[in-house]
Amino acid sequence: MKPEIIVSADRESTGAAAADQVAFLAAQAFSVRGIFTMALSGGSLVEMIAPGLLEYSRKSAIKWPAWNVFWADERCVPLTSPDSNYGLAQQHLFRHVPLLETNIYALEEERGSEGAAEEYERFLHAFFAPPPGRFPRFDLILLGMGEDGHTASLFPGHSALDETRRWVVPLSDSPKPPPGRVTLTLPVINHARNVIFVTAGAGKAPALAKVLCPGPRGKGLPAQRVFPIDGNLQWFVDADAAEQLEGPVHECL
Ligand code: 6PG
Repeated sequence: MKPEIIVSADRESTGAAAADQVAFLAAQAFSVRGIFTMALSGGSLVEMIAPGLLEYSRKSAIKWPAWNVFWADERCVPLTSPDSNYGLAQQHLFRHVPLLETNIYALEEERGSEGAAEEYERFLHAFFAPPPGRFPRFDLILLGMGEDGHTASLFPGHSALDETRRWVVPLSDSPKPPPGRVTLTLPVINHARNVIFVTAGAGKAPALAKVLCPGPRGKGLPAQRVFPIDGNLQWFVDADAAEQLEGPVHECL
């Protein structure tokens, strides 16, 4: 299935449009399965979608107790660290809504990245309990993209990109600080029902053009390898990030 690209005027409207879709997918998942499973990324993503989700929350349009929040990637730092994705989401979203604390996965970073990855994968196995050899199927995985085309903590040329068996892998050499992280692997991301990228800023325009035009230019960029096997892929981008999506890229989509 080809990706759907939703271009909004600016960062704020991009976040609002993405929040609309998150709220829609959460309601859809709840109506079908009575639960919503979402994996969040770090960076500017949560800050961009939080205002829209808080607006829905004020209108009691979100069934927060049905939300189960996990991480597309997380840094191996204390939850109180300014580098923690959990801490960032807590600050911008979680502490403002009736999301059950027990429904938000908190990384056991004190185990180090290898131990934290093993524990996270163990938890996911117990939670999703798919048939043997199958991958977990999140309702939604929310991703950002770096200027180098990385996503989650999957970086260009890193061995984590080639993982085909493990659900979660550790890093101790992330080129984006902090170095110690855990990340969902591509097989898990590509088994999601829905994957949404939220990307803004002119700095992302070159990578976005490469990623969305899967020719040799974009070959191998991590974000370009996100392609749900049986799911939907949407990019919510602002005009600055989309500025190079004219012309040849449209022939690729
Ligand atoms: C992380 C993120 C990472 C982020 C991108 C984009 O933990 O660092 O998961 O993949 O989403 O680097 O970040 P920005 O949107 O802030 O540029």
